[in-house]
Amino acid sequence: MELFERLTRRAKENPRRIVLPEGAETRNITAADHILADGLAEIILLGNIAEIKAKAAELNLTHIDRATILDPTDEKNIDRYAPLFFELRKKKGISMDEARRFTANELYFGCLMVKAGDADGMVSGAIHTTGDVLRAAFQVIKTEPGIDTVSGAFLMLLPENSPYGSNGLMVFADCAVVPDPDARQLAQIAVCSARTAHEVAGIEPRVAILSFSTKGSAKHERVDKVIEATKIAHEMAPDLHLDGELQTDAAIVPVVASLKAPQSDIAGKANVLVFPSLEVGNIAYKLVQRLAGVEAVGPLLQGLAAPVSDLSRGCVADDIYKTIIMTANQAIHD
Ligand code: ACO
Repeated sequence: MELFERLTRRAKENPRRIVLPEGAETRNITAADHILADGLAEIILLGNIAEIKAKAAELNLTHIDRATILDPTDEKNIDRYAPLFFELRKKKGISMDEARRFTANELYFGCLMVKAGDADGMVSGAIHTTGDVLRAAFQVIKTEPGIDTVSGAFLMLLPENSPYGSNGLMVFADCAVVPDPDARQLAQIAVCSARTAHEVAGIEPRVAILSFSTKGSAKHERVDKVIEATKIAHEMAPDLHLDGELQTDAAIVPVVASLKAPQSDIAGKANVLVFPSLEVGNIAYKLVQRLAGVEAVGPLLQGLAAPVSDLSRGCVADDIYKTIIMTANQAIHD
């Protein structure tokens, strides 16, 4: 079954509450209307209520009245969430006045709703920068137990009949967040990516932590980092099918794997590729996307205690629609 067909069905069967902080923005409100029309999630729009209603009328959107609309600058709403923000950040020395100012910001307000259990996930970034969305999520939602590093994965939708991946899918990470992960962070990225592969892509993960060396073929401190990350990831998730350090060809091409890494149980058939740095991950996914014409879906933020998705500022309403579906799926725990 097509990825989005499966995710759409799952979202419909398990409706989740998704908060959109950029509630009055045309692409966001259009996507929200389509989601509500299709019954795929409950939607909370943040912004000036009159402005949102006027925008919906201007765009002839007929389902938006099913959304909850909240104004983060409304004093009553600030009263509700500022104490939570203060509690979360008081160790950083903030005052209640500062907490109230942060709470009135739509990104922080959206994250606070998720943290308080009043929403299941947040989608933003059509207007705000990646850094702003991530910082609010890091500070408020924080990481899931056992993880302290959030990373970003892409689902790579391979061409039909591709010999690579599983069910036409591969997961690439980290392509979006951690510029220079150490071995411990890299191990966490590997473990979180395996979960993304299982929970969102619906494939059984076979994880390769990549390098320019396969099983000791090169010596370098960067290779040592990948070897160490592989060891830590095995300790974190002993049952996970994972190996490193592997070059890309040894990871995904069976004949190369049989020569370079014959003992590995995932070499030649990896479907989750973990890159040793953000430079590599970001460049690699864009190269595959552009040169091979592969659709790249993401980034899916992984490692947060609840799902938040960052949009590209060049996105269209359909991208937001799909991201809401993906985020809702990340909030479903079977
Ligand atoms: N996971 C969890 N928490 C984190 C992470 C992380 N990866 N990174 C930072 N934090 C936390 C810090 O611990 C800190 O928490 P605290 O305030 O409670 O102490 C808080 O977030 C802010 O940390 P800073 O070090 O000040 O982080 P900064 O704001 O400088 O940067 C950011 C964070 C924006 C994510 C940075 O790592 C970054 O810019 N990454 C690259 C993002 C990017 O540009 N990606 C490429 C584009 S996306 C694309 O092409 C798909």
